[in-house]
Amino acid sequence: MDTARADRHPDHRWPDWRDQRPEAPGPHLDHAAAGRSSRAVLRATSNHAQLEAQLGGYVAEEQARPVIEAGRAALAGLLGLPTDGLAFVENASAALGRLLMVWPLPDGAPIAMVPSEWGPNLEAFARHGFPTIELATDGAGRVDLASLETRLATAPPAVVHLTQVASHRGLVQPVAAAARLCRAAGVPLWVDAAQAVGHVDTATGADAIYGTSRKWLTGPRGVGMLGIAEPWWERLIVPTSALTPDGTPVVRMLEPGEAHVAGRVGLSVAVREHLDAGPADVRRRLTEVGRITRETLADLPGWQVVDAIDTPCAITALRPTAGQDLIATRGRLIHDHHIVTTVAGVGRAPREMTTPFLRISPHVDCSPADLADLRAALTIPTRAPR
Ligand SMILES: Cc1ncc(COP(=O)(O)O)c(C=O)c1O
Repeated sequence: MDTARADRHPDHRWPDWRDQRPEAPGPHLDHAAAGRSSRAVLRATSNHAQLEAQLGGYVAEEQARPVIEAGRAALAGLLGLPTDGLAFVENASAALGRLLMVWPLPDGAPIAMVPSEWGPNLEAFARHGFPTIELATDGAGRVDLASLETRLATAPPAVVHLTQVASHRGLVQPVAAAARLCRAAGVPLWVDAAQAVGHVDTATGADAIYGTSRKWLTGPRGVGMLGIAEPWWERLIVPTSALTPDGTPVVRMLEPGEAHVAGRVGLSVAVREHLDAGPADVRRRLTEVGRITRETLADLPGWQVVDAIDTPCAITALRPTAGQDLIATRGRLIHDHHIVTTVAGVGRAPREMTTPFLRISPHVDCSPADLADLRAALTIPTRAPR
């Protein structure tokens, strides 16, 4: 690392993470939308696509099987599941759709969740005819474990569903503790880990967990994962197909027959890189990045940091307090400053949000200079006194 880079970033490890990626024109503060893949991931993905054109898609897939199966084992380990409990699917939404189709749920069974639930998940529950029950939360929006325990004992839902890390603001659910309570009560816990995998600890003891490659793992787009704990495998109602080879593990039968195999290869490389970086170190760093982001923006006039400063994740939400148009602000950040962020509209958490937020989601490589640039770009010019 050269001296100028060292000045921009006091910690030596994480600039390497940035150097492994194609150069960005400015700070990418949008990993909660889609992360920046490394050159190795991009190379593996495009090499596989090339191999498909050379050898034929199915021959290429055969050749890639060892890489993909190593990726499956590594990913299953990150989710705390046996390898045969993991299916590669298209994305997190497709994973939830599969879960709702194959889980042995009685018609109209109630699903319990918290008010911050991801809006499209609420729509999926409704589409499949499952009513929802709201669980009590603490002041920050985390499920209240004492009242969850009471609810499980007195009026248990068919499923508890928690989104481990929210999309719209820095909010992390105590999933491991909820999993222990649910297991003791015999109620399955499903976890939406779309924002959690590669970001926080996802080996939590959930009965089902699903997510996506493209965000914090910085794998390719168009690949997701669904993991199911072993006690459920024989109880799933999985449609059989004459085309499925004998002996296919039941969870793997949830994989689409036709798939973005190059994406699975790329994801497998991304997971390997994540393990090499050290998941615990990445988690610690992302917590630190979140805290530094909130501290940097805490007193910025015209903006309010929505989350508690020490929320253990890298997502920060800003509420505009001076009537700023967030769509215009995001556009200005990209076009004038090359800073990428997201406007989180109320549809992301319709039972909790009343106004949109500007979402900032840096990865481990975020530097003080990136955040200073963001702060400067968000600063509302004061009118000169006349
Ligand atoms: C919390 C959460 N759940 C689910 C999804 C949906 O993921 P996908 O676009 O992979 O279907 C997202 C996407 O941003 C998300 O943030």
